[in-house]
Amino acid sequence: MPLQNHHWIETERTRMRPFEEADAEHAFDWFSDFEVMQFIPGGADLTLEDSRRRIHRYREHQKLHCFSKRLILHRETGKAMGDSGLFYLPDGKRIELGFRLAKPYWGQGYAIEVGRAWLEWFDTHHAVEPLFADVHPDHLRSRRVLEKLGFDCSHKETILGMPMLIYRRR
Ligand SMILES: CC(C)(COP(=O)(O)OP(=O)(O)OC[C@H]1O[C@@H](n2cnc3c(N)ncnc32)[C@H](O)[C@@H]1OP(=O)(O)O)[C@@H](O)C(=O)NCCC(=O)NCCS
Repeated sequence: MPLQNHHWIETERTRMRPFEEADAEHAFDWFSDFEVMQFIPGGADLTLEDSRRRIHRYREHQKLHCFSKRLILHRETGKAMGDSGLFYLPDGKRIELGFRLAKPYWGQGYAIEVGRAWLEWFDTHHAVEPLFADVHPDHLRSRRVLEKLGFDCSHKETILGMPMLIYRRR
């Protein structure tokens, strides 16, 4: 039976839904922010068209695997605040958890809140393979988030030319 892939994932302060094409207008705000994208292999989007293509990839992934990166909306204001989700590496080698917040939402525990919701989703719908995350060695804040979510550092890998640490969920 196909998974119910279009329902909302709800957390205390956020709601997450699959991306729609029109979301590029909002998501370009953080996809094009060099500070937000500093530690992301591939880097920031330079044009709105780049973000449209990115969202297209996320939507194709959703169709194929019934999960993908989702848009995070602030529950009270309804504003788009970032993206988070599960995604296969391009070579299909492993599933990774990721989160990216627009700068006004940093430092308020949102990454851990949405990360926990994804772990619960994964355990309910897909817990047949291990779960990973990749993080730049200098990105201490993100490493701290992963450790709090129950991930340990597993090994090093170069991804799109960027040296990354691969974390694996315990
Ligand atoms: C990385 C990111 C997701 C973190 O999310 P967040 O909700 O802002 O995380 P928080 O501010 O709650 O911080 C998480 C933890 O890191 C700690 N932390 C913050 N800055 C830190 C630093 N410079 N060094 C070490 N730890 C730090 C916080 O104290 C907190 O730990 P605590 O709860 O034990 O106090 C967010 O900053 C972001 O979206 N950045 C841009 C995109 C990105 O890099 N995504 C991750 C790719 S792997």
